[in-house]
Amino acid sequence: MTQKLKIGAVQINSPLIMAPLAGITNLPFRLIVKEAGCGLVYSEMVSSYALVYQSKKTFEMLKSCKAEKPLTIQIFGSDPFIMAKAASIVEASGADIIDINFGCSVKKILKSGSGAALMQEPLKARAIMSAVKNAVSIPVTIKIRSGWTQDGYQAKEIAKIAQDCGISGIAIHPRTVKQAFKGKSDWNIITAVKKTASIPIIGNGDIVTHNDAINMMKTTKADFIMIGRAAIGNPLIFQAINSALKGEAIPSFNIDKHFDIMIKYFAESVKYSGETKASLMMRSRLCKFVKGMPYGADFKEKIKLTASEKDGIKIIEEYRDILKKYNNKKSDKFNIDKTGALL
Ligand SMILES: Cc1cc2nc3c(=O)[nH]c(=O)nc-3n(C[C@H](O)[C@H](O)[C@H](O)COP(=O)(O)O)c2cc1C
Repeated sequence: MTQKLKIGAVQINSPLIMAPLAGITNLPFRLIVKEAGCGLVYSEMVSSYALVYQSKKTFEMLKSCKAEKPLTIQIFGSDPFIMAKAASIVEASGADIIDINFGCSVKKILKSGSGAALMQEPLKARAIMSAVKNAVSIPVTIKIRSGWTQDGYQAKEIAKIAQDCGISGIAIHPRTVKQAFKGKSDWNIITAVKKTASIPIIGNGDIVTHNDAINMMKTTKADFIMIGRAAIGNPLIFQAINSALKGEAIPSFNIDKHFDIMIKYFAESVKYSGETKASLMMRSRLCKFVKGMPYGADFKEKIKLTASEKDGIKIIEEYRDILKKYNNKKSDKFNIDKTGALL
């Protein structure tokens, strides 16, 4: 934790990274995880074609602000020329790092020859990495899977090519394409890539608690760790892991902080998408924040009908009061479990 963490020349103040999550990691979400202690945020994956063909909706995905910096924008595509052009657009938008998606296992993406399809096309992957790298002066990273076979052969092969091409960091989600998100991630593949790497390695996959985070760092020797699903309804996981990495006591779960984050998330979403769209989005997003909590079902029923920020905040505040009363009465107080993950 004391050594200087960098990707290329970009300084990162915590080894904890928020994974790119399509449909989740927009600007409002990135702001709340950043405030909770995340060192580096990634955008959702952005289509290189849509950028080059100037889709207004896709350009919206490049919106950023100072408070979330540094920011990685992740692009996907299969054509080196288009990817290079898209990278220039991303650089001009003010992003700090560009990431190339070599890991997406969604059928539509694979069919278009993008994402993890490129892990079985090393020549094309090389052409894309070189083209993107040559098009910009900010650092370029890649995000990969194990590949198409369990042994991780392709992960090692692509990692080697990446280093040849001057790539500045590699995030590894060690599941095969066929696994998608099922089964367990195989951290041995992160260890194997790290052993031969001269650039920062970002370990990813199945970190749910601060103990998982420490284990991954210890066993794989990854320079950074990336958290995805576990942060969706629990941004404070970053605070817990940061404390654990510093050897400090894990702060006990703070109901007020958690609910303040929900309110901020709503407010930032309204700023970003407008009240109608944000309210619709918050209906499902905020349900993730109360997973496993007492009387959570009542909250979910109410928030699923919210149509305005005022209404949403009222529902959040009422539920906060219910939980606090519950905690004051119960001897076995509702709490976050000792590992730092939401129950
Ligand atoms: C809903 C969802 C959306 C995702 N979107 C992306 C994406 O846009 N780009 C990407 O590289 N990976 C994406 N991923 C994969 C995650 O970044 C991450 O590699 C994976 O969830 C494993 O990490 P975790 O176990 O911490 O969740 C997505 C995963 C999920 C569940």
